[in-house]
Amino acid sequence: MKEAQARTVYLKDYRAPDYLIDHTDLHFDLEPQATLVKSRLKVRRNPEAINAGEKTLPPLWLDGVDLELLSIAIDGKLLPAQRYHEGEGGLTLDVETPEFELEVHTRIAPEANTSLEGLYLSNGMYCTQCEAEGFRKITYYPDRPDVMSVFTTTIVAPSKYPVLLANGNKVDSGTTEDGRLRVTWEDPFAKPSYLFALVAGDLQYVEDSFTTASGREVKLQLFTEPKNIRKCDHAMISLKHAMRWDEEVYGREYDLDVFMIVAVDHFNMGAMENKGLNIFNSACVLASPETATDGAFQRIESIVAHEYFHNWSGNRVTCRDWFQLSLKEGFTVFRDAEFSADMNSRAVKRIEDVSLLRTAQFSEDAGPMAHPVRPDSYMEISNFYTLTIYEKGAEVVRMIHTLLGPEAFRRGSDLYFERHDGSAVTCEDFICAMEDANNADLRQFRRWYEQAGTPVLTVTDQYDEASATYRLTIAQRTPATPGQTEKPPLHIPVSIGLIGADGRDLPLDDSGKTSTVLNLTEAEQTFTFSNIPHAPLPSLLRGFSAPVKLHYGYSEDQLLFLMQHDSDAFNRWDASRRLAIKALESLQAQYRDGSEMTEPAALIKGLSAVLENAALDPALVAMMLALPSAQELAEECEVVDAGAIIAARKFARNSLANALSAPLLARYQQLDQRKPYRPVADDIAERSLKNTCLGYLCATLDPSSLDLARLQLQRDENMTDVAAALGALVEYAPREEAEKYLGAFYDQWQQDTQVVENWFLLQSGSASFGTLERVRELMQHPAFEITNPNKVRSVISGFASRNFTQFHREDGSGYRFLAEQVSVLDKLNPQIAARLVIPLTHWKKYCDHESARMRAALQGIMDAGELSRDLYEVVSKSLA
Ligand code: ARG
Ligand code: ZN
Repeated sequence: MKEAQARTVYLKDYRAPDYLIDHTDLHFDLEPQATLVKSRLKVRRNPEAINAGEKTLPPLWLDGVDLELLSIAIDGKLLPAQRYHEGEGGLTLDVETPEFELEVHTRIAPEANTSLEGLYLSNGMYCTQCEAEGFRKITYYPDRPDVMSVFTTTIVAPSKYPVLLANGNKVDSGTTEDGRLRVTWEDPFAKPSYLFALVAGDLQYVEDSFTTASGREVKLQLFTEPKNIRKCDHAMISLKHAMRWDEEVYGREYDLDVFMIVAVDHFNMGAMENKGLNIFNSACVLASPETATDGAFQRIESIVAHEYFHNWSGNRVTCRDWFQLSLKEGFTVFRDAEFSADMNSRAVKRIEDVSLLRTAQFSEDAGPMAHPVRPDSYMEISNFYTLTIYEKGAEVVRMIHTLLGPEAFRRGSDLYFERHDGSAVTCEDFICAMEDANNADLRQFRRWYEQAGTPVLTVTDQYDEASATYRLTIAQRTPATPGQTEKPPLHIPVSIGLIGADGRDLPLDDSGKTSTVLNLTEAEQTFTFSNIPHAPLPSLLRGFSAPVKLHYGYSEDQLLFLMQHDSDAFNRWDASRRLAIKALESLQAQYRDGSEMTEPAALIKGLSAVLENAALDPALVAMMLALPSAQELAEECEVVDAGAIIAARKFARNSLANALSAPLLARYQQLDQRKPYRPVADDIAERSLKNTCLGYLCATLDPSSLDLARLQLQRDENMTDVAAALGALVEYAPREEAEKYLGAFYDQWQQDTQVVENWFLLQSGSASFGTLERVRELMQHPAFEITNPNKVRSVISGFASRNFTQFHREDGSGYRFLAEQVSVLDKLNPQIAARLVIPLTHWKKYCDHESARMRAALQGIMDAGELSRDLYEVVSKSLA
């Protein structure tokens, strides 16, 4: 991409479409190298776009990329060449009547499509990915979400593709004269082109049914390649749970006769909510106890729910333009998080989500690609499927929920769905519905949609014995981000409690409530509590009530007290995290000064108490024991010294392992119960603590601990336990032995794509095993495929974003390797290349020698030649 071609799109330039498409009739003749696509569109001048006194009709713009145009006809007559012209990214036609039928024939080559946008082949099956702008790679079309149309799709394919699917309900099928199969689908709900989908393949399916609250029977089908048919049960159960939950919690019923899910191996993202025909990355839908870990089971449950929930928050009510992406994604992530919380443990789910936010979203919000939940501009929309749009967007919706309360929030969502069903709307419309349904005022709250950056809260307090009054003073400040220097104060819900000397929550007012939400709206504000009998210890930001960083001068003793007594489970965990970060920061300082590192005594004391506390949820104990990741620690640093982080973590881990080996072993033995595998919250919690203990025990390198891992591996009971044992052995067993286990594991599982992906990741992400040399070897492995994003993620991203130790090797070889791979991938799949490069873009945060080498690697990508728009945007913004 030359700089001139990298045009920027601005929200302020939004205009309604000139023409609407009332009906879209598609006909596909599938061939790998030459698929014929015929489209017939009922086009009509958009009354809302007509300017006063308009005399001539504006030209019609149709997006189109990598298409071979065969013919264009209007109302049955071929259009002469002078009435249209092909330009950059599409074509314009002269229009003579305000309503007409347009027929366009194009040819495309699915087999040559490695971008995995538009129509492509995955293991010989045809599938599509159209969000955000992939439909323009299928046919010429106004490929924007505010053009909503009723679609009819006919697919013709050779008989080796017996399953032919598209959106909606199947209305016709048969064979053509030459013996090919033909199926027609009709989707009665008007939708934008990004929700279009088509699948053709030799697939098998499992089928089930769901009866909606109003008594309609819906057929549920899950399609996979035959070899995966036994891995569909969990997704099917999850789907039914999600359908019931959306009826109960949001009053939303499913609307078509059939709901289909298809698993495909080549997929850029997790999954896609195409109307009635969701398409999933195989890794996000297929699972069995022997092949998938607890983590995979839970991820599948949440993604299946997420895509299903989009049927209302995304499809029935969609986005006006892509600046509004968080309208559907933030809201839907909030919905799926609440669903998972209801299905499993609420506190555990919250801690997992907040950890992701703090690790990855906070760093995005502090880096060169920082953008508001509703961005003002972009070069390539694919680059904005970010943690900010999804995760921070969900936090923003959660804050509305917290400020209004659950009943009022439901009134707001009911009004939103009722007002906007069948239309393409904005984040503003969502907020208005929340306000109007409740007479609420969210004017200042809107800034959350406009301002990028993570707000920092600084809290001080004061207790006055004479008047029994306690005062909390909270100051807020949001750091500058690219293009945004001034940040007026936000409306921040700060949930708090006050803990008395006996460890119990103090009543905060006459009603006796012990938690309250403070409305922080000013740059600095003081909140006063009266009748407080003695100086309390504040529990701040309970449940992580806002996506902010909060500073309060907790002492180690106070944190130990909170870990034991806070009635808010999230904050009990958060206290342990604060304590761990304190410890790891002083270890980093010791390492940098060259002084001897000292045992983190307070942390050991706190975790020892936690480990002995049989009343605590084992999942919570596991999460308290787990040290913050290197990435998370990097996020906490002003200047990152990768070497110091690695050394500090390693030292702390070993100290904990040695100091706590007796209780760790006791817990391991107590939890090692060998019961039949079930992916339910209680069992998952026990396995997670058991395996956390195992990891620590192996870190001591004590031979009998390694024996525990060897035995657990041999027993081969379920993938969760096997993967944990193998992971510990790869990290801590003698190299030769570890190689033997890895080899045997591969031999056992080589036919299973999902397991092989995890086998790659286990190696590329390992601090001791995943050297650059090893990663290069893995890329030569027969199971590696550079055109498969999951393989790229498990080998290359595993190394670059999970293997801090090897990626940040002092010689800069890790950085150069990543740059090299990014350049190769950019020619094949720009979306993946632009994501892969992200670890390098944070170079400004690193200390001098690391920073310079990361920047040089980025510059090398820039200089290597023509970049895709995707990669150009990320690299140019991070070099700026
Ligand atoms: N809407 C999908 C989801 O979040 C994400 C698809 C985006 N895909 C892409 N290639 N940008 O559920
Ligand atoms: Zn989504």
